[in-house]
Amino acid sequence: MENLANKVAIVTGGASGIGYAIVQRLLGAGAKVAVADLNEEKLSEMEKLHNGALISSVTNVTKEADIKALVAKTVEAFGGLDYAFNVAGASKPGAIVDQSEEDWDFTVDLCLKGVFLSVKHEAKYMKDHGGGSIVNIASLNAHVPMFYGAAYSSAKAGVEMLTKNAALELAQHNIRVNAILPGLVMTPLTQGLTEVEAINDAYMDRIPMRRAGTPDEMAGPAMFLISGDASYVNGSSLIVDGAWAVSGYPDLSKFM
Ligand SMILES: NC(=O)c1ccc[n+]([C@@H]2O[C@H](COP(=O)([O-])OP(=O)(O)OC[C@H]3O[C@@H](n4cnc5c(N)ncnc54)[C@H](O)[C@@H]3O)[C@@H](O)[C@H]2O)c1
Repeated sequence: MENLANKVAIVTGGASGIGYAIVQRLLGAGAKVAVADLNEEKLSEMEKLHNGALISSVTNVTKEADIKALVAKTVEAFGGLDYAFNVAGASKPGAIVDQSEEDWDFTVDLCLKGVFLSVKHEAKYMKDHGGGSIVNIASLNAHVPMFYGAAYSSAKAGVEMLTKNAALELAQHNIRVNAILPGLVMTPLTQGLTEVEAINDAYMDRIPMRRAGTPDEMAGPAMFLISGDASYVNGSSLIVDGAWAVSGYPDLSKFM
């Protein structure tokens, strides 16, 4: 793992799941980390545990003032900002014909506007201070629709395109922006689905590796994207899904 001593990172949604795993990787590499989340209790627990290396900020990524304050607090505490991981996300599912405007707005605001506001203010600082690297967490659903996930899938497709637009605009400022598209990952977000045996089996039918990924298996590729080894990777989408995306064809292997 690259040594990140003297480097500073923001992780939104860092109090749980994929974001939490990214925070652990960053701390392990010696970086200073600002964790932004709504989960106050978990945030203060993390701050106490990693006193000095981690600051927390109760942040709602859908509020521009919160994101501005997050970047300012990070720079004030640690003297700069080199990396940002925009991970916060969740959804309120619903069939298109039934979904309320409120639930659509909740999902799209959190998953898409939240990433826009984060990239905006992270890059605003980075562009005047030598550059940086940003990783947005989209989803395999950016490419693959799911039942009752129109808002989520549309927002995640938006995150992928936002990532490309940001790479295009920000390359001149020495800022790289890339996306990770996770498949199924074992986190509190998916627990309600995967603990139902029949639903879990339906997922496993589709995933050639026959298992969900771990949060740390998303954190590793995210760390690659900010590393020197990825210095020419910009505007890319890295699918991390146990080969799920390539499994659209019927499984003919049992007939051969
Ligand atoms: N778990 C999966 O299978 C999977 C697959 C593809 C994409 N993703 C994406 O990965 C990201 C992380 O998901 P996860 O599975 O780790 O979920 P998670 O529920 O474990 O963690 C999400 C975190 O985001 C925080 N959060 C929610 N709303 C927020 C807001 N408005 N402002 C700030 N923080 C907020 C939550 O408090 C939580 O700590 C999400 O964007 C999700 O869409 C997850």
